[in-house]
Amino acid sequence: MTEPVRVGSLRGIMMRGPGVSATLPFYEDMWGLSLSHKEDGVALLRGTGTEPFLYGLKDGPVFGIEYVHFAMPDRASMDALHAQIIARGHTPISAPGAFDDWAGGYGFEMLDPDNRRLRFRTEARVLDDQKDWAKPKKVSHVVLNTPDMDGTQKFYEEVLGFRASDYSADQMVFLRCNSDHHSIALVRGNYASVNHVAFEMPTLDEFMRGIGRMKQKGHVPSWGPGRHGPGNNPFAYFVSPSGFVIEFTSELQQIDEATHEAKVWSRTDPEAMDRWMTAGPPTPAQRAVMQGRPDPGFPELRTR
Ligand SMILES: [Fe+2]
Repeated sequence: MTEPVRVGSLRGIMMRGPGVSATLPFYEDMWGLSLSHKEDGVALLRGTGTEPFLYGLKDGPVFGIEYVHFAMPDRASMDALHAQIIARGHTPISAPGAFDDWAGGYGFEMLDPDNRRLRFRTEARVLDDQKDWAKPKKVSHVVLNTPDMDGTQKFYEEVLGFRASDYSADQMVFLRCNSDHHSIALVRGNYASVNHVAFEMPTLDEFMRGIGRMKQKGHVPSWGPGRHGPGNNPFAYFVSPSGFVIEFTSELQQIDEATHEAKVWSRTDPEAMDRWMTAGPPTPAQRAVMQGRPDPGFPELRTR
């Protein structure tokens, strides 16, 4: 079998829910993002890098994901990914073409097995770097709860070219599309929902300062700080005003394709789960909020 076309990178995510665009000040004043574009019922937030937006807030009736946002390096790889999706028996929502939204560029959308919209975009609007201390640089990863972890993993691997970097017992798989240990992770759940979205701080010092900024404004982590086993990344989780779980992270493990072998990490060894032994296990309340609210996605867009 020839090597599959791989998704280039994770750009970010558009969230959806009742009144979410009104939570903009939280992200600007506390989380460290900046408004890049606003229109009726939609606010787009940028980090310090060149991405037009990392995190979108779109008003809508159901809490969940409007779309997960990926990049491809160019039109040729975009067209090749589209062809691969069709060759593997899936039907994208749209053919590759120009996007008419603010971020612009060229690409298409499809649904994953849980009816989540995935948007692939190349030639997007490019912003000037806005280097700023202790502010998120990019979206590190998106973690999804799924009722069919094995089937959804197979989809991301076979159709989109992701590879499994590690497992957390039989409950979680970490999937990479480039050298980042994971851009997507899947958690076994009773229903499809968003587990959390992680924002990358450039350094460990800035990661800690980000937690400090939140704390000074009265918002302490709901879990962490600690350092995960799989991915070896520091974590601090917070709950947004809309009830979404968001994370500060940094120093995510970089994978060498030539030597890396996926392993199954213990969920019973406390030090494998929490390498600094600072965070402890997640509380029942933390687990509940990470389970998220059922997100039906967009089944009406599925043609087969
Ligand atoms: Fe995470």
